[in-house]
Amino acid sequence: MATTAVAATSVVVLDRGNNTTCTINLHGATVVSWRVNNQEQLFVSKLASFDGKNAIRGGIPFVFPQFGPWSFGPQHGFARISRWHLDRAPERLHNGDVEAIFSLMDNELTRAIWNYQFRITYRLILREKELHFHIGVFNPSKELSFTFNMLLHTYLKVPDVRRCQITGLHGCTFIDKTREGALYQEGREVVTVNEWTDRIYQHTPQEHVITNVVSGRKMRLHKYNFPDTVIWNPWIDRSREMKDFGDDEFPNMLCVEAGNVTSPIILLPGTAFEASQILQIIIEGNVSRK
Ligand code: BG6
Repeated sequence: MATTAVAATSVVVLDRGNNTTCTINLHGATVVSWRVNNQEQLFVSKLASFDGKNAIRGGIPFVFPQFGPWSFGPQHGFARISRWHLDRAPERLHNGDVEAIFSLMDNELTRAIWNYQFRITYRLILREKELHFHIGVFNPSKELSFTFNMLLHTYLKVPDVRRCQITGLHGCTFIDKTREGALYQEGREVVTVNEWTDRIYQHTPQEHVITNVVSGRKMRLHKYNFPDTVIWNPWIDRSREMKDFGDDEFPNMLCVEAGNVTSPIILLPGTAFEASQILQIIIEGNVSRK
């Protein structure tokens, strides 16, 4: 049976057996842990705040309806600091996978910042070596359209970020946020991170492979309807500026974030938008995606 734990702690656990679990905090519907055979795949800072107010520093925060600074409200929007609803408690599917569904609707707080009606459903499925994310955004309004960014801010846990390579970015244009947003084109076959990195790659392919994640393995990130990929590591100086991030933690994380950032999505009244992501651990000799 899938383990369900929803209570005072605001935490929901999907348990697939074999020490393979996924933990979601209802604060932001933030995935705060993904363990595969007892090995944690996601980075969460030792200084992360779980006060139910601030965004959780690590795991997979849900960025909506704004990416980056915002004149109307908090950086990266309000979804990551809103309390989400558990629509379907963890349930074992016929093939042994475990599914849970979360949702967020407009409410007094969101409307005070951004006066639109919306409904997001967020469906997570935990498989043996994979975590699937399916997102639907619906505009229930009869007359108003809205525009939004959306992004899954995935913090991968890595033994040493300097040894990671990211595929799929060669030839893509990117906005370099460390250089006042200048636009460049990626010339490297694989991208490595050896300094403060904050780049929005545009029109990226549906798949990236990241090498040297936990246990020296590879991680595949497969995405649908997420045309941008943000690569971020704060490195030494920026780490010191963040109060919820340890000064010595930057070598152990790499953010590879699938999203809609540079061309916001316009959602007409009564219409819906869907996007998804799959994280898959590649076991050598078994690289096919089921
Ligand atoms: C990344 C942005 O996605 O998130 C960076 O590209 C930003 O510019 C980083 O610094 C972390 O943002 P925050 O709001 O969680 O500190």
